[in-house]
Amino acid sequence: MRLLDLLERRLLIVTGKGGVGKTTLTAALAHAFSTEGTRVLCAEITLDEGAPSALGAALGAWVSGDEPVPVSPTLHAVRLLPSTGHHRFLQDTLPLKVLADAAMRSQGLKRFLSAAPGFPDMGIMYRMLDLMRRERSPGVPEFELCIVDAPATGHALALAQIPEFLSRVIPRGPIGRVAREGVRVLTDPQQTGCVIVTLPETLPVSEAMELARGMEKHRLPVAAMVMNRVPANPFSAEERDAVTALLAGPTPMLGSREMLRIDRAQAAAKLLAQQAKVETMQIPELSASTPAQLIAALAARLKSDELMPRVA
Ligand SMILES: Nc1ncnc2c1ncn2[C@@H]1O[C@H](COP(=O)(O)OP(=O)(O)OP(=O)(O)O)[C@@H](O)[C@H]1O
Ligand SMILES: [Mg+2]
Repeated sequence: MRLLDLLERRLLIVTGKGGVGKTTLTAALAHAFSTEGTRVLCAEITLDEGAPSALGAALGAWVSGDEPVPVSPTLHAVRLLPSTGHHRFLQDTLPLKVLADAAMRSQGLKRFLSAAPGFPDMGIMYRMLDLMRRERSPGVPEFELCIVDAPATGHALALAQIPEFLSRVIPRGPIGRVAREGVRVLTDPQQTGCVIVTLPETLPVSEAMELARGMEKHRLPVAAMVMNRVPANPFSAEERDAVTALLAGPTPMLGSREMLRIDRAQAAAKLLAQQAKVETMQIPELSASTPAQLIAALAARLKSDELMPRVA
């Protein structure tokens, strides 16, 4: 089965440790789904409004501000800023729009919303739900699929915890309503799926498993675990035995480090397949001269079914 078919949802959250390839995979998934005709919104969680958009760079688009930017007829990219969510939330809950605008101009409120635990995450969640609810005509969503590039391991888990936390702390009123809707969307495996990305080494795999357990605990559905940058193994079992015999000899050989890398990747893939409770997929290490080429090559592989070997 193709990873794309496995991931058909309304909301995908791509997460994992730093540098494992989250932004690359988010952009490649967005590229692959959108070129198959799905209307995709590719979103990046940003706490720093001034920071340049890594996702925009990966998609070859200038993504700034807080409104979705068209990348192609079926692909938009957006930054999810807590402040936009807070503003939208106040607009939706206060009786007059001017009150929301005035409230958002208050430095004290801004400081409170960005510092109070859970509120930045609530802003991001509200903004995400708001964009998912957008319709192009009654009953037809503007974006059929939202793919979120979650910046660090902690964020997806924080996002998972916040709605429950808020609905417990503030069960009534508009915040309670948002929190309940958030819980409903985020914990529904028909609607939401997390994609945990890891590198082909045993320690990153253990960390990815820990993340998967954390998500399970908070009822955030994990749709797949993806091992990225898997080195190609060009040897058959017999060839490998011959190479091992050669490397075991007294003369140091060039290329022995690469063999070690392949071995470690295989051990990590085995570990992941043994421990993961969901589908596991491998993405090869690809060589490309520009980020756009890497994403196009990756998207092409995601779309083809024969090039995504399953770990198990
Ligand atoms: N399959 C792949 N083949 C080759 N290079 C890859 C592959 N996947 C990712 N990379 C490279 O790995 C680096 C890290 O990727 P990326 O920026 O997507 O990671 P990230 O998880 O988003 O990082 P961060 O946690 O810093 O946001 C980039 O230079 C990217 O080009
Ligand atoms: Mg990134």
